[in-house]
Amino acid sequence: MTERIQQLLSEVAAWTANSNDEVEVLRIKYLSKKGEISQLFNDFRTVPNEQKRQVGQLLNELKDKAQEKLTDLKAAFESQQSGLTTDDYTRTANPMPLGTRHPLSIVKNEIIDIFARLGFTIAEGPEIEDDWHVFGSLNFAPEHPARDMQDTFFIEKEPDVLLRTHTSSVQTRVMTGNQPPIRIICPGRVYRNEAISYRAHCFFHQVEALYVDKNVSFADLKQVLLYFAQEMFGSHTKIRLRPSYFPFTEPSAEMDISCNICGGKGCPFCKHTGWVEILGCGMVDPNVLDNCGIDSKVYSGYALGMGIERITNLKYQVKDLRLFSENDVRFLEQFKAAY
Ligand code: DAH
Repeated sequence: MTERIQQLLSEVAAWTANSNDEVEVLRIKYLSKKGEISQLFNDFRTVPNEQKRQVGQLLNELKDKAQEKLTDLKAAFESQQSGLTTDDYTRTANPMPLGTRHPLSIVKNEIIDIFARLGFTIAEGPEIEDDWHVFGSLNFAPEHPARDMQDTFFIEKEPDVLLRTHTSSVQTRVMTGNQPPIRIICPGRVYRNEAISYRAHCFFHQVEALYVDKNVSFADLKQVLLYFAQEMFGSHTKIRLRPSYFPFTEPSAEMDISCNICGGKGCPFCKHTGWVEILGCGMVDPNVLDNCGIDSKVYSGYALGMGIERITNLKYQVKDLRLFSENDVRFLEQFKAAY
């Protein structure tokens, strides 16, 4: 048997190949299940005990050498096939397909950039929250319907652990740990217990902005809203504010922009009104400031919140919200934006 192994060792050492097929012949002849080496391993049983150690070592050496040869030849053919050798330093790098940024990230970054130019800095908070940060501190009445299981995903009821339904909870997180001036922008994912359709999803994204300082007025809010709308949708964009209600702002408003699809003339997208709603806003309710340990007699503030999907739909006219979370590259590749 030793002789046979020695013979195979020299055969393997001398093996050359001119093509991939010949490399394959080497593999089949020596290394396949029915190849020479497997055969020898089978016969190993018959080797007398006192020779087992020496023959075993030789046999393992043969197996390693054959494996090594196979790997070397394979590598040689791979680089030969592409016309390159491993030490050709002049070759260009393999073209790597570049990914694209997700449309929601493009729009989120754009919103952040606009507010950053006004001095806002980013603040983030947890997605898994408690009732106080999401509702209680923000002046939601104990029986407010938003607290219902039908709207909110509860992880636990007692003690309450839930998925935040809006990024307004980050307001509380920041205000409880800091004194004014506070000027923050909070992007993030939020969750609501909604049936999934083209216009609703159980998770989506929001951006919240909060400014608290001495003498902050509704006029300041209005100017920031106009600046934002025109930076985002173009300098021709008009805004209008409609009175509204949110528990955490007083007074509250919703902001519409002139429809950027028809330019305000009226189209199916704006339901022929010429206006589309894009965000909620208002002056921070004094109760909210006090709940968070900020003296509402000294300070005032404004807040606003918007859905990133909504802004993205308006910018890129994506008709079905579900596209944002399906990861279909045919959709994503359309956003080769320089962002
Ligand atoms: N949190 C509100 C929502 O999810 C949006 C919102 C409205 C945020 C008014 C605000 C605000 O900061 O002032 O629908």
